[in-house]
Amino acid sequence: MGKLTDFLSETDIAGVTQANGRLRRLPGLVFRSDSYHRFEQTAWLDRTWLFVGRCSDIPNPGDAKPIPGFPLFLVRDALGEVHIFHNACRHRGHRLVKGKCEGLRSLICPYHRWTYALNGQLKITPHFAGHGVHASDALDPSKHGLIAVRCGIWHDWIFMNLDGQAPPLEDFVAPMARKLDFVDFAALRHFLTMEQREIPANWKICLENTMEPYHVPYVHKVTAAGQPLSQHYMVDEDPVIGSAIDVPGSSYTNRAGTLNLSNLDMSARYLCRLPNLFLTSYAPDVIVDTMILPDMRDPRRSWMEQAWYTTSGRSLSAEEIEGWRTLEEAVIDEDIAVMSEVQHGAESRAVDDGGVLSPAWESCISSMYRHLVARLSDERPGEAI
Ligand code: FES
Repeated sequence: MGKLTDFLSETDIAGVTQANGRLRRLPGLVFRSDSYHRFEQTAWLDRTWLFVGRCSDIPNPGDAKPIPGFPLFLVRDALGEVHIFHNACRHRGHRLVKGKCEGLRSLICPYHRWTYALNGQLKITPHFAGHGVHASDALDPSKHGLIAVRCGIWHDWIFMNLDGQAPPLEDFVAPMARKLDFVDFAALRHFLTMEQREIPANWKICLENTMEPYHVPYVHKVTAAGQPLSQHYMVDEDPVIGSAIDVPGSSYTNRAGTLNLSNLDMSARYLCRLPNLFLTSYAPDVIVDTMILPDMRDPRRSWMEQAWYTTSGRSLSAEEIEGWRTLEEAVIDEDIAVMSEVQHGAESRAVDDGGVLSPAWESCISSMYRHLVARLSDERPGEAI
């Protein structure tokens, strides 16, 4: 697997861990190197919980969906249980689920028609032992079912733990639940999911952009006109980091408040439970999840999805839902434009030293890299997430 100092110098590591107020970013190779990308996945992401989908994505038995960026898929079995499986047939590895599916009765490999129950059990291996002879002493179906990945569910959100050794999911999400203790998660009502977007940038560049407010007055000058930089502040409580804004007159307790969906003009919490559970809480009663996943094969590519909920149990009108869709698509387009340009810059020697971070507006990014360095230096899998 290697070790962190195979990729980063002691100076690089000291740059993000020093406590002298000078905050540095990690060097450009962490956004572009294939070998570092594999190391980061093995040493960190395989050992923790990753947010990979929603129960509302696969609401009925027989619904299935690939996990973006990973050769894995989600499926709901005949009894309603959610599973995560490796997306490869146990015969010769053909992909099983290429896109979102509904109402499947079984999982059938298109190559030689091996057929699996929705719970992963291998059921049929056509003509495996000769024409018309499906069963064989050479193949024990009970040992060739689909390979499952540890799966956990918190409210609507589905998580996976690839090495199966992480502490319980409830421990993982507890810091986020505490930061949003004013939210009644039991009352969540889903009202919108934005289609998956492919982002031409490393997933950490997406995390950086999503958690810091420094860019808001420039990149989202119109779409977030009601959220002036002067009202923002940092949330820096590893492993929950990000930013927040309190807009005068916009309250979480005044549920009668209405939103002006011409721009983001409300109080908000933009919080990430590292590594990738990002929840935005908009006053008075809307919560948005942002799922940012790396592409396992390509450090320069990542995937993003978002879903919206009310937290008061109320339903929104079609007009309000369309307002959210239109506004957020504009915000995401603005973000994708800058994230792809930051990836372009990561190819330059000018960012071999990473760059400097604002102590006022980007301490959350510094915390993210300290968290990353700690995880990548940790030789005791599963003890810290
Ligand atoms: Fe799936 Fe042959 S690869 S049945």
